[in-house]
Amino acid sequence: MVRVSKGLDGVVIDDSTVSMVDGEAGEIWYRGYSIDDLAERSTYPETLALLWDGDLPSEAALDDVTDRLAERRSLPGGVERTIEELAPRAGTMDALRTAVSMLAGYADDPDEVEDVARLREHLLDVAAKTPTIVAQIHRRREGLEPVEPRRDLGHAENFLYALRGEEPPAEHARALEKAFVLYAEHEMNASTFAAVVTASTLSNPYAALTSAIGALQGPLHGGATETVVEMFEEIGDPDEVEDWVDEQIATDGRIPGFGHRVYRVDDPRCAHFRRSIEAIGPEGEMARWFEIAQRLQTAVGERLGEKGIHANTDLYSGIFYRLLDVPPALYTAVFGASRVAGWGAHVLEQLADNRIIRPRVEYVGEVGREYVPVESR
Ligand code: CMC
Repeated sequence: MVRVSKGLDGVVIDDSTVSMVDGEAGEIWYRGYSIDDLAERSTYPETLALLWDGDLPSEAALDDVTDRLAERRSLPGGVERTIEELAPRAGTMDALRTAVSMLAGYADDPDEVEDVARLREHLLDVAAKTPTIVAQIHRRREGLEPVEPRRDLGHAENFLYALRGEEPPAEHARALEKAFVLYAEHEMNASTFAAVVTASTLSNPYAALTSAIGALQGPLHGGATETVVEMFEEIGDPDEVEDWVDEQIATDGRIPGFGHRVYRVDDPRCAHFRRSIEAIGPEGEMARWFEIAQRLQTAVGERLGEKGIHANTDLYSGIFYRLLDVPPALYTAVFGASRVAGWGAHVLEQLADNRIIRPRVEYVGEVGREYVPVESR
């Protein structure tokens, strides 16, 4: 008897040493290091090096990866022109996916995936360029000229600079760098699986990362951040939270920002985003949204916690981004820009010991049907 696992629930596809998500304890470990430590003390380039190499880099190795990421931030002219064309008409994730896919056309020998050094250069190229792509999509959509990235700024700092056209306050840059670390990796989620499936066919890394972006954009995965913001707008008043939750439960509605395949407690990244929001100090509408989010966390926990439904990271990330002046249309893309580190780590791990990923389905249709010519149907 074949056991079908809808949604691959509980299916373990391989061994991995990249990260561990403990859904019962609410912990995430990158290569054995707690994200709580990394979020407070690491940077995005250091976390990327950790994820790709398995160890924290030496000072020289850290300088090297930081410099190489900074040097590669500029985009080829053709990609800039495509962004200019797409930004006003396409969704951010559609434009990002297209731009990342296009980068293959400007890369040297992207198909030589057995050359690990070259493969890593390509992955690094995408990690360096995705923040620039996202910033340019935003600026073109707003009718603004793109801002040339700066090599002297940190990873998140440069992204905010490229977005706003002026250097961000240090506390904003540090808060976003922390978010880039927190979103860098999350075990075998849907977008990472998409990257690994594509890489397992020995497709090039741009194809693998394009697949990942496609999987990330849906509202059941990375796209949830945007739907959470719509929920805050719909609820409007913190005093309405409990009634709104009861109504959702009574009508079997999904509550954005809650539920997860792995966690049976609150997602550990929630606490970090809450602290970052408190440190920046929300005012006006953001203070109201923050109160709504906290009351939602309590109300849903009380009503659905026993069923294993708790807050996921997207409950707070929207408020956090808004406080940094990152508009909602960019949230999922910023998430994707940080996740390139984790996607890259899993692509490297897959190709180090590859076997094509080719599952089966249980066929439950008919067999032996007789072909009927079209004129007789
Ligand atoms: N609100 C209300 N009920 C829920 C929710 C929710 N957000 N999530 C799951 N449930 C219920 C669901 O109705 C089902 O109940 P029953 O067994 O009575 O039919 C049960 O919990 C199991 O749900 P499921 O759909 O089988 O769980 P899944 O593991 O397949 O889906 C999920 C996980 C994240 C897609 C889902 O929880 C969901 O749709 N959440 C809302 C969207 C969201 O916030 N997504 C972001 C996920 S975290 C960040 C990321 O991955 O990018």
